[in-house]
Order: sequence, then structure tokens, then C-alpha cells
Amino acid sequence: MDSFYTFSTVELSEQYCRGLACFASRSLNNETFLKSMKQVPRTYCLGFCYAGPSLSRGNYKRPYIEIKSRKSILLKDIVKDRVYNIDQYISLGGLSALKRALEMEPIDIIKEVKESGLRGRGGAYFPTGLKWESAYNQKDKERYLIINGDEGDAGAYIDKVLMEDNPYLVIEGALIAAYAIGVENIYVYIRKEYPLAYERMKKAVNEFKSKGLIGVNSLKGRNVNIILEKGKGSYVVGEETAMINAIMGLRGEPRARPPYPTESGLFNKPTVVNNVETISNIPWIIENGGKSYYELGFNKSRGTKLISLNSLFNKPGLYEVEFGINLKEIVYEIGEGIKNNLPLKMLVIGGPLAGPVLPNELDTKLGVEELRSINASLGHGNVIAFTNDTSPLDLLYEIVDFAAYESCGKCFPCRYGTQKLLSVVENAKKRGYLNKDELDIIEKTAKVMRSQSLCGHGVGTGDAVLSIINKFRDEVEK
Ligand SMILES: Cc1cc2nc3c(=O)[nH]c(=O)nc-3n(C[C@H](O)[C@H](O)[C@H](O)COP(=O)(O)O)c2cc1C
Ligand code: SF4
Repeated sequence: MDSFYTFSTVELSEQYCRGLACFASRSLNNETFLKSMKQVPRTYCLGFCYAGPSLSRGNYKRPYIEIKSRKSILLKDIVKDRVYNIDQYISLGGLSALKRALEMEPIDIIKEVKESGLRGRGGAYFPTGLKWESAYNQKDKERYLIINGDEGDAGAYIDKVLMEDNPYLVIEGALIAAYAIGVENIYVYIRKEYPLAYERMKKAVNEFKSKGLIGVNSLKGRNVNIILEKGKGSYVVGEETAMINAIMGLRGEPRARPPYPTESGLFNKPTVVNNVETISNIPWIIENGGKSYYELGFNKSRGTKLISLNSLFNKPGLYEVEFGINLKEIVYEIGEGIKNNLPLKMLVIGGPLAGPVLPNELDTKLGVEELRSINASLGHGNVIAFTNDTSPLDLLYEIVDFAAYESCGKCFPCRYGTQKLLSVVENAKKRGYLNKDELDIIEKTAKVMRSQSLCGHGVGTGDAVLSIINKFRDEVEK
């Protein structure tokens, strides 16, 4: 099993980050980035994207944090400093949502979440209330909740900040979800590259226990338990069915669906998997009502969203924005443009497999469907800026190299497809362009991957590759 993971036997002492955000900003410190290229095994994101190129012993301060939305749901308690302990959290109004939830019927909590329009922030944007309802309606009363804190998409340090700076909010959201769905055991899966997040979550769990809020009879006479799991280094384990396998001690490979996890997930029992940011919205929804949440945002994207900007921006940091904000505003007002006044070549929002956004697409509004309509993706909300330091062919190579390295190999289209793409693009990169035959192979391979892969890793790779070659055809073809 150890061979499946990158960091099973590796201690994270001096890791150099080669995630896409550090790659994009490599000119800011080429020496550091080059070390990441030589390092075995590779480290694909340490979550210091606001200070990249980065390394694990860099002693970085927390990122700059600002609220840019009409109302703050997620960052209000941590704009200036973190929350240090549970009593401070309570003094800031924390835990009143849990108290209120415990006075409600579980089904009414689910109704409120449905009414809020909240959709999962892990990247798929499935309606959270519907997911909970599906598990709630299962006959089997043994149910599980998994909080996904793997945050594998480079450029994102959203869940990292939430777990490090306000683990109490994450846990309060998880306890409300457990009560609503009927869960006794909650697993929180935390990326190994985030040791501080793990430590602070552990301390917070112990504080909840000492207040009798986790344990026997803690949820209105019901028991609840939180188990922290540390990742071992695999991008694909962020995918929910792969995570279920990993927690069960199996190879962290995705499962075919159906059955969906809400029908048969962890230990083949109904299981809800929710992202850290998703679950952190829950206390506010219960306190203020689903309707108030729905009033924020636009179209099918409701509420606020955390976005993390990489170090190439003049003002990198973590921002809470409302859905519907213009991408141009994010780049030039929130991020204050690109360092050294360099022109923006492209953005990649939502991780390596998201597809680029061109400068002439910046009038697009931040929303799930809106980004899909320009063949890009919102993903987890990580915004990576690129300058002319990165050509479209460089980006293509980085993406297929990453996709091939992280492919779990379970299904043929992705196992073979990523290697095929890598060999073609590697050759072309040495030459500086792709010829027609190569473009044809890339296109055919990506289309098969997009339609036939078992999980979002292969599908997303196919989509991203097609988006790059279509948007930059003039620049990559000769
Ligand atoms: C390859 C791959 C990697 C993923 N990595 C993550 C991750 O690191 N964190 C996350 O929350 N979701 C990740 N997801 C999405 C999860 O499968 C799942 O949709 C999510 O955790 C559900 O929570 P949500 O409904 O709150 O978004 C990944 C999906 C794929 C296909
Ligand atoms: S698409 Fe790739 S990562 Fe997903 S199951 Fe297939 S081989 Fe594994």
C-alpha cells in the first residue's frame, strides 16, 4: 500500500513546492523553484501560494485576509487574527448555531440548507441540502460524514486557513451536519502537507470534548465522535470515493458510481462527503436562515465564496467575495493587478485541471455555470495569474506532467491517456511548437479521456487540455 502514496514513508521536513501557483510565479525566485523540480518525490502544493515559490520550512506568516462581500460568512472572525481557543470562539458568538440546530428537527435543518442554495465548494458544486437529504432518507441508520480537507488543487489555501485559523467553525458545521443526517462518526481527512491545520484541528477537537460537545450523549442524547485522518500524498484521494477507500485502508482509488456514497460509501454505509469550506457555511445558514444566504450571490451560485490569489498578484491573499463579481474586478481591484506591472497572460482558476481564462474573458462573472460557459472551471476558487513567463505550451506540459504523475492508474483512458499526452507534449516542448499530427493525437486522446475516464481526474485532464489547445491554437501550432 505504501507505494500508492507519495509521502507514506517521507517526512515533510524540507519540501520545495512545485504546484501550479509556484510554477506560475517561478521568476520571483527561480532558485527555489528549480529545487522543487529536482526533488523526489514531488510536492504538489504546500498551500503557501501567496508567497510562492515556496518551501515547507519557509516560516511564512498567514496570508493577507480581507472581506469583499456585503456580508461575511466565513472570514468574519479571522480577518485580523486567528481564533485561539473555544472560549474565544464562544465569545465571538460561536456555537449558538449548534445550540439552535439542536432545538430543531433534523429534517428542518436539511430544509434550511436546501433553501440556502448552498452547493459543494469541493469543485463539483452539488447541492448540499440534496446530498444530506439523500443520506437521511436511507433505511440504514449507520451513516458517516467525511469532511474533505485534502485541498489538492494547487493555488488553494482556503481550507488550510479555515482549519488553521478557525477550526471551531469547521467543527461546529460538522456537528450540525452530523445531527441533521444522523451520523455518529465523523472523519476529517487532512492533507499531510498541512501539519499546522492537523495540529489545530486536533486541539480544537479536544476542546470540544472537554466541553462535552463531542462524545457520549453530546448531540441531544446521541453520541458523536470525530476522527482525524492524515493524508499520505495523493491528489486523487481528494476525490470522494477514493477518500472513502483510503479511510477504509484500501488503495485510494475512485469507485465506479452508482452506487453514490450517500447510498453506499464508507464501510458500505450511507456517507456524506463535504468539503471544509462547504461545511463552514452551515453555522451561518442555521443562525440567519437559508433565505438570507440565498440573497447573496447570483444565478445558481448563491452565498459567498473564498478565493485565494497567488503571489504574482500585487495583493495576494484570501478574500471573501460574493458570487457574481466580475473576474476583472478580482484581478485589478482585489488583487491590484500583476507584480511589476506585467501584463496578464491568463488566469487558471480552480486548479491544474481547470482550463485557462484569457484576458479577453475577464468580463465573465464568478459563478459555476458562467466559468463553464467559457470552457474553464471555478473548482475550489483558487486564482492563479500567469505572465508571459509561461507560454501555453509550458502550461500544457505542466498540466499533463502533473496529471500523469498523479493518475492512480485504475482506468485505462487516464492511465494510458496521460502517458500518451505527456510523451507527445514533452517532444513538442523541446521543439517549441506542436505540429498538426501531434495536435490531432492530443485532441483524440483528450476527447476519449473526457468521455471515458472513471473519475474527474481523467475527465478534467481531457477538458483542460482541449481548452488550452483551442484557446491558444495560434500560439501552439506550427
Ligand atoms: C481528482 C479529484 C480530486 C479532488 N480533490 C478534492 C479535494 O482536495 N478537496 C475537496 O473538497 N474535494 C475534492 N474533490 C471533489 C470531491 O470528490 C467531492 O466532490 C467533494 O469533496 C464533495 O464535497 P462538497 O459537496 O462539499 O463539495 C476532488 C475530485 C476529484 C475528481
Ligand atoms: S480517471 Fe485517472 S485518477 Fe481517475 S480512476 Fe481513472 S486512472 Fe484513476
